[in-house]
Amino acid sequence: DLNIKVNDKNHLDIGGADAVDIAEEFGTPTYVIDEARIRDNYNRFYSAFSKYYPDFKVFYACKANTNLAVMKILESEGCCIDAVSPGEVYTSKMIGFSGDRILFTGNNITNDELKFVHDQGAVLNIDSVSALKRLSKVVDPEGLKISFRVNPMVGAGHHDHCITGGVMSKFGIMDNEAVEVYEMAKELGFNPIGMHSHIGSGILDPEPFKLAIESTMDIAGKVHQEAGIDFEFVDFGGGVGVPYTPEENVVDLDKFAEVNVGLFKEKLEQYDMGNPTMYLEPGRFIVADACVLLVTVNSIKQSYRKFIGVDAGFHTLLRPAMYDSYHHIVDASKMDAPMTQEVDIAGNVCESGDLFARDRPMPDVEEGDVLGILNAGAYGFTMSSNYNSRPLAAEVLVTDGECNVVRERQTFEDLYAQQSIPPHLK
Ligand code: LLP
Repeated sequence: DLNIKVNDKNHLDIGGADAVDIAEEFGTPTYVIDEARIRDNYNRFYSAFSKYYPDFKVFYACKANTNLAVMKILESEGCCIDAVSPGEVYTSKMIGFSGDRILFTGNNITNDELKFVHDQGAVLNIDSVSALKRLSKVVDPEGLKISFRVNPMVGAGHHDHCITGGVMSKFGIMDNEAVEVYEMAKELGFNPIGMHSHIGSGILDPEPFKLAIESTMDIAGKVHQEAGIDFEFVDFGGGVGVPYTPEENVVDLDKFAEVNVGLFKEKLEQYDMGNPTMYLEPGRFIVADACVLLVTVNSIKQSYRKFIGVDAGFHTLLRPAMYDSYHHIVDASKMDAPMTQEVDIAGNVCESGDLFARDRPMPDVEEGDVLGILNAGAYGFTMSSNYNSRPLAAEVLVTDGECNVVRERQTFEDLYAQQSIPPHLK
């Protein structure tokens, strides 16, 4: 159930443009982003939930993709932002998101960073008693609206690294200290009006979300009743998965929204909490399948195994090396060709773990072919690096078949632009 389109030349189509032409014009590796798909993903997600609960907002988790064009597209749709660092807050403000459209959920944040985020007008979602106390010293707490991230004691994710709830998690305040912490915030002068939880990332199974909504609402209900907090919003974080393999299915959004909103409403009633706004923070869902990483095959080697070597590596797309993630890979120049072999698709980094795929069924790939690595829009470019002194990839936005470079490929000069050699070494 992947988002793959093919044109009449049997080439991969991205947003109405030919992937092979894009590779020729702009070079590779290049991340190619489909504007219409981002808008469509956002609107499908927003409509699914607002249909069942009109007081609903999407806070796009921009850590997934902070390309300015992507941010601008979502700004124009009326989306809000989940930011996790001062840099993300800065970028969001620069793009045009007002502070009240930014929820900052940081982890291990310094006093200066807390103050900076507050001065930008973003709403702070506090992750620890330490941050609460330190915030009260660097800003005027009187009447300041804040929220807390709680640990709902439910976690899920496509990999251990991506599970953010439960006893092993570094995130949030403990469920059983919530009442005390909200009371402490009030005593310090704050106006705590929100609660947040986020259980993990890349989740296709609907069950953990239900458990998390129930558990977060039980904590919120207790805080409402025992600490007298009237919630203006409850935020259930992100985590909704997308299919990466052809066998995985897309989440049935309508059903997903109906069930989860149903549970949310039941709990609101049970604890007599009124009608707070419901927030969700999808990152992957909005951008993952709206982008393809185009790479070129430069060498084919028959060793003890057969390796298809390409001009990108884990410095370009880290997910396969870091999480053993599956990314579907197509030969963009012969989309109709039958699978004839099982090969390893290897990057150009000098490490054995630099593989995009093992034993992957592929057609008769030739040197010079352009491959499309799918679902590269989320945690793709944002996790890339200059390892092996490789310049960062270019990014191209496709809108109605028209291409615009939205990030220039780095140059060698960029690799050392911020370094200097001290005088005694000159
Ligand atoms: N909200 C919070 C507080 C988060 O920490 C995250 C993701 C999200 C929302 C968005 O989650 P999403 O809807 O995208 O699943 N680098 C990993 C994913 C790390 C996710 C970190 N937090 C990967 O490539 O799979």
